[in-house]
Amino acid sequence: MSENIAFKPETLEQVHKIIARYPAGRQKSALIPVLHIAQKEFGGWLDVPVMDYVATVLEIKPIEVYEVATFYTMFNMQPVGKYVLEVCRTGPCMTRGSEHILNHIRKTLNIKDGETTEDGMFTLKPAECLGACGYAPMMQIGKFYHEHLTTEKVDEILELCRQGALALD
Ligand code: FES
Repeated sequence: MSENIAFKPETLEQVHKIIARYPAGRQKSALIPVLHIAQKEFGGWLDVPVMDYVATVLEIKPIEVYEVATFYTMFNMQPVGKYVLEVCRTGPCMTRGSEHILNHIRKTLNIKDGETTEDGMFTLKPAECLGACGYAPMMQIGKFYHEHLTTEKVDEILELCRQGALALD
């Protein structure tokens, strides 16, 4: 990542609108939405220079950014594939077969948890409850939930990804 990290002008405008939602001096409150924007704009993950840039934009210390970015699993601390498969494995999803789904994905893509396929297409990221327990087992890809998963349904989703036909946002 070069030192010339900067949001596109239209993105910076969006960031300033978010910061303006909070009282003067409380710009740190905008950190999480701004990190989401940064992650999207700078390749799907938050490299240290990107987090430092976010700190500069929000006029806070870099450590304040690192603390938040490393705490939440939705922020990626290393490069990820185009499609991040966030498979819920908490109680309700577990009792409805999430481990079977995870094993199927591990085997099909030949990757372990946290790894990315060699072609840079998929990252497997087991997740904690994503709030869709009634539709277990489920996974999130981009902004969308894929629910009542079966191995057949997972295969269809992976194929849609390969065809570039699965919506991310
Ligand atoms: Fe999987 Fe809640 S346990 S969404």
